Amino acid sequence: MTTRKAKPPIAMLAELTHRCPLACPYCSNPLELTRQEAELSTDDWCRVFREAADLGVLQLHLSGGEPATRRDLEDLVRAARDAGLYTNLITSGIGLTERRLRALDAAGLDHIQLSLQGTTPEMADEIGGYRGGFARKLQVAEWIRQIGFPLTLNAVLHRRNLHQLPRALEMALDMGARRIEVATVQFHGWALKNRDALMPTKAQAEEATRIVAEARARLKGQLVIDYVPADYHSDYPKRCMGGWGSTGLNVAPDGMVLPCHAAQTIPHLRFETVRDRPLAAIWFEGAAFNAYRGTDWMQEPCASCERKTVDFGGCRCQAMALARDPAATDPVCIKSPRHLDLRARADAHAAAEAPLTYRSAPGKPVATPAE
Ligand code: SF4
Ligand code: FES
Repeated sequence: MTTRKAKPPIAMLAELTHRCPLACPYCSNPLELTRQEAELSTDDWCRVFREAADLGVLQLHLSGGEPATRRDLEDLVRAARDAGLYTNLITSGIGLTERRLRALDAAGLDHIQLSLQGTTPEMADEIGGYRGGFARKLQVAEWIRQIGFPLTLNAVLHRRNLHQLPRALEMALDMGARRIEVATVQFHGWALKNRDALMPTKAQAEEATRIVAEARARLKGQLVIDYVPADYHSDYPKRCMGGWGSTGLNVAPDGMVLPCHAAQTIPHLRFETVRDRPLAAIWFEGAAFNAYRGTDWMQEPCASCERKTVDFGGCRCQAMALARDPAATDPVCIKSPRHLDLRARADAHAAAEAPLTYRSAPGKPVATPAE
């Protein structure tokens, strides 16, 4: 089935919980959120971290939801460091106090990635659905700077806040961040529900690309800028996950092991849990991981394309969402027969007016608190 023997993964994303004080309308968590009672225990996660290190994982991204809602976060960081993993905390900052940050430092946390919902309190609090969140985040950023954690700022941009990109870059410098990830929203999960509210215009997408190119030249040596462009307006798709089952894996709060955060939207795939099987067996032998590994599964035009090992046909979950076929060429690709239709749909979404549908809490129905 595979064209090459799988190598071990480099990175693992541990979604410690789906609980989160924010309710961002582009959350990458699934629509069906895992309840707290179903989350892996402290001991389970510690075992999974050891299994990951034995498998060859080097970097562990501790994510959520909001990972700070786990009371055992410090214990988990310590266990991951003891296993030899480099630890990165992906957080909104809400739920972190100075005392907690110092405890995480003492536990060995290596790096923090702080999310930015907007560059003004009005924008950030509206997008996060959490009043006072922006002020809190600035305070957390200051504690992070004082303690000396290496910091990456992670700004998710969309039609409502793309004009704030220049200020987001300034904020990264002000906070002492070494890196900023400028990620135009990717339409999976909750974001897919919000395409009419969040889709950027083509002009916005082009302006963002111009601003990033200018800033990369101007800030060389000062700030690294990672950039995820607006792919509905692009000619070629992104190399999603670096290629399916090639460099990274996700573990969901209940222990389900996934090739990417949206993989459960592909209905025929069967996933396995770390409760039942060792991580290495799931990675190397699991049916879901082998389904789109390598290039053998590809259809035309990918199968005979010179870029097939460049982007691996784009994103399988996006092919599922837009073409109803996870083995299809990602419709973002200019060679896809669906590309022109996608372009037209992108323009239509960008011209639409819609309220935000916020992410709900685990176990709660989808809410629409558009104010
Ligand atoms: Fe990539 Fe497939 Fe498009 Fe070629 S045809 S550029 S492999 S998505
Ligand atoms: Fe699943 Fe891209 S999000 S392959």
